[in-house]
Amino acid sequence: LTDLSVQIGRLTLPNPIMVASGTFGYAREMANLVDCSRLGGILPKTITAEPRVGNAPWRTVETSAGLLNSIGLDNDGIDAFLSHHLPYLASIGTAIVVSIAGRTEDEFVELARRIGETGLASAVELNVSCPNVSGGVDFGTDPQACHRLVAATRKGCDLPILAKLTPNVTRIADVASAAADAGADGVCLINTVLGMAVDWRRRRPMLGNVMGGLSGPAIKPVALRCVQQVRSASSVPIVGIGGIATIDDVMEFLVTGATAVQIGTANYYDPQVSTRLIDQLPAALQELQATSVREVVGTLDSTR
Ligand code: DOR
Repeated sequence: LTDLSVQIGRLTLPNPIMVASGTFGYAREMANLVDCSRLGGILPKTITAEPRVGNAPWRTVETSAGLLNSIGLDNDGIDAFLSHHLPYLASIGTAIVVSIAGRTEDEFVELARRIGETGLASAVELNVSCPNVSGGVDFGTDPQACHRLVAATRKGCDLPILAKLTPNVTRIADVASAAADAGADGVCLINTVLGMAVDWRRRRPMLGNVMGGLSGPAIKPVALRCVQQVRSASSVPIVGIGGIATIDDVMEFLVTGATAVQIGTANYYDPQVSTRLIDQLPAALQELQATSVREVVGTLDSTR
């Protein structure tokens, strides 16, 4: 029998396959398509203090290299989330990791405090890496700001804290180490890569917000590189995200150093991809003579 359970700091998951924030709505939308209770964890769309309508259209463009989005944190706000969405999410029966974003440290702290108070969430993911709103990466680009934010959030909230980081920095390992020093239970690598698409005939950018976040297969090598860099610099648990769609992708992230993964863009093309990956995991582990996920995490031999 294979042990699929994993531990990310104080957060225990039944298996390492989660669905990424923003790609699964508030999970209600997926209930008729997926057995959500089988997922290792669910990350609902990032929540902010106030409801947001998000950016002007177009907000998503499919390019030959991947999906570009500039949603702009369109969400229902914390009041509706706590009264309406979180009770439903908690009833599913798997880990619920609530993604939050604030413009200030106090906003993050207050959001985390209110989520912790409900007793319904498993963990909080600090989204310090949204490329599509002003100030969206302020806490994800400066290691000191990230340290202060994680420390302050931890003080007001007993839940495990994850920090979702942006690849759009020179030294992601410095930001990850700062989050770890401040007591983060894990870091999630990576959010989208800043990009752009152009309609040359109209001489217009394709996205209403001009630039947007690139996701999908194109960013998998970037994400693996980030996992490798953080793994080399710190022992903080890592959640891998970026272009994961097949069991080979999952295994690449695990051996490189991710304890768990999040499936994002692939959900749009096949909502059942995540549960299928869970089914395929035991056989893949067996190929490495492993009977648990733990045994393979970070076993990459990068000496050659
Ligand atoms: O690519 C992204 N788009 N990353 C985020 O963190 C948020 C999202 C959005 O709402 O724009």
